[in-house]
Amino acid sequence: MVAAAEHRSLDDLNFRAQGRLSEVSGRRAVIHLHRRGLIGGLGLAGLAGPAILRAQELPPLRPATVFQTEGPFYPYDDKPTDQDADLVRITGQDAHALGQITHLTGVVRGQFGEPLGGALVEVWQCDSGGRYIHRDDPHTTVARDSGFQGYGKTLADRDGAFRFRTIKPVAYSAPTPIGEIRRAPHIHVAVSTLGVRRLTTQLYVAGEPLNDQDLILAHMATADQREGVIRPYAPGTGDEAGALAAHYDLVVGI
Ligand SMILES: [Fe+2]
Repeated sequence: MVAAAEHRSLDDLNFRAQGRLSEVSGRRAVIHLHRRGLIGGLGLAGLAGPAILRAQELPPLRPATVFQTEGPFYPYDDKPTDQDADLVRITGQDAHALGQITHLTGVVRGQFGEPLGGALVEVWQCDSGGRYIHRDDPHTTVARDSGFQGYGKTLADRDGAFRFRTIKPVAYSAPTPIGEIRRAPHIHVAVSTLGVRRLTTQLYVAGEPLNDQDLILAHMATADQREGVIRPYAPGTGDEAGALAAHYDLVVGI
């Protein structure tokens, strides 16, 4: 007959197997069974599972990419029919988007550095004239570029890598409760896993004068956080003549 203490320990192991036990009590349970000679001697070694890392044994976590507001122009009800990763060309149309073509690449990782393969990456941005594909975009006196898709999505590959073909973002004016502001050029991005939005942020262009006065970038992110979302847009490496390339590493917080 197994004593009550062993009953509790076996229950503890079951809880740990279901991910519901703290690492400390889980280790206590394993140690207890070792002392009682139950692990190994009764063929329970498999129940012990891999050693549980203590907090002190974990590698340093990577800083998570800073959260920034989704803004008012995510196209909840206005998504284009074509939602692929090429925002420069709308399937079925001959026209190409106006603006400077940019190959936007990145890698999505968790804070342990693990690639988030299969993550859904969405981007949305205004066209070269500052217009979003959104019914509430107030700049109706400016014609929207019908050749620009405005929104796109893709799945990160097994290495967490993603790629979009889009245009270099431009500055635009945006309404706020206290009046019109000028936004630094940016691309909105969102990362979701298992159908849950995990990261919402905005990506900026290195060297843009408006970066230092932007309401979101200058006032809602620390210097370190800003570094993570500001990248150079440099001539590409041969993917497409005349195109720019920009790369961002995104880290999704735990
Ligand atoms: Fe925006």
